[in-house]
Amino acid sequence: MQKLVINGGIPLDGEMPLYGAKNSALPLLAASLLCGEETVLENCPRLTDVFAACRILTHTGCRCTMQEHTVSVRADAIVRSEIPESLMQEMRSSIVFLGALLGRTGACQVYYPGGCELGPRPIDLHLEALGRMGVQIVRQEGRLECSAPNGLHGAQIHLKFPSVGATENVMLAAVLAKGETVLCNAAREPEICDLADFLRKCGARISGDGESTIRIQGVSALKGCVHRIRPDRIAGLTYLCAGAITGGMVKLCGTSGVQMENVLPVLEQAGCRIDRTEHAVYLRAPRRLRAVSRLRTMPHPGFPTDVQAIMMAVMTLAKGVSVFEENIFENRYRHVDGLVQMGAEICVSGRVAVVSGVQELYGARVAATDLRGGAALVLAGLAARGTTEVRQIHHIDRGYEEMEQVLKGAGACISRRAQ
Ligand code: EPZ
Repeated sequence: MQKLVINGGIPLDGEMPLYGAKNSALPLLAASLLCGEETVLENCPRLTDVFAACRILTHTGCRCTMQEHTVSVRADAIVRSEIPESLMQEMRSSIVFLGALLGRTGACQVYYPGGCELGPRPIDLHLEALGRMGVQIVRQEGRLECSAPNGLHGAQIHLKFPSVGATENVMLAAVLAKGETVLCNAAREPEICDLADFLRKCGARISGDGESTIRIQGVSALKGCVHRIRPDRIAGLTYLCAGAITGGMVKLCGTSGVQMENVLPVLEQAGCRIDRTEHAVYLRAPRRLRAVSRLRTMPHPGFPTDVQAIMMAVMTLAKGVSVFEENIFENRYRHVDGLVQMGAEICVSGRVAVVSGVQELYGARVAATDLRGGAALVLAGLAARGTTEVRQIHHIDRGYEEMEQVLKGAGACISRRAQ
């Protein structure tokens, strides 16, 4: 096990690179299962979740190789359409392989991905939607045996909630199904558009991605393609917030910020100056940030739940009171204890967290509880007086490639040590 050791109080000043989006890479790797020819994913982040997805592909019989930030997948010979529990449990979002295996082979056996640090992670919306496409599902001791004896067929589907994963599973099951699928109340996250772009390059017929209704006409087969994964908007916002919380001046490279419009104005309201070019986003923080009165997490294009913990860390030092409302996940305030340990004043009641800005945070020994909560503790450590140790950083390695190297490149005093 490893930890990050941070000597805080240094305003960041410098450039930070941005890699491809984890939440695009995972469904794109699943989608490669559908293709009869080689697919190549460029700008793929080197993350433990990506390596886990590659292990699932290899288990099914794909040839999957990763060189630097490029992954090549050959799925011409699928030999297994079941995913063992151990592989399913490694990564919550492995459920997205369900739609891909069904789309390719018409049957599969997977396990419930299980809950995670954010609370129970039900998949009822996924299963209801696939059922309407002709999938029969037998549940046995946590195992899901899925089959489509008459093949998958298009359907009219309305999601009760715009679930990202359920939207992706329907897209992956529908591209090779017979007939048209109309998916209403679909998720609108940019990663959905990234997946649709990839599938269209492979010959799929998809329209409406990024809006609430997606239409898919099934085709008989998909070819291969080369696809460059979009930059990781959540990691990018994390690094901009690192500049904000330390009162620094940073340049985020590799993105125009086009997928961050639902968060950049919040940083401006807090007093940061944001400038954008085609290939970079610049942030200059004020001496002291202003509190942002109310932040509600909502499905895209609302304020992203994945930025809630990170923005909360920033607001712990802002002048005034900020009120957060977490509307997407049941248990996404687990980072609060660590922030309070570092001197933050936060009061949680149900879905609401009230943050009263303090003048100073101080270093402490804390532990990451989940991916974005862990990132929030690192940001607080960058601003705190003294030394902070963040343990359990395997959570962070799931979604940030060499976070400490990126931050060190902008002047942070941070290092990775054995726990
Ligand atoms: C994706 O998770 C992301 N993960 C999450 O990012 C992100 O927070 C989430 O979308 C929301 O934007 C990946 O893309 C790999 P959902 P997903 O299905 O698909 C409930 C990160 O930090 N729900 O949109 O699992 C569910 O319990 C991760 O990068 C059902 O009730 O999210 C949750 O409360 C964390 N039934 C809400 O919907 C279902 O069948 C949103 O879930 C499915 C979901």
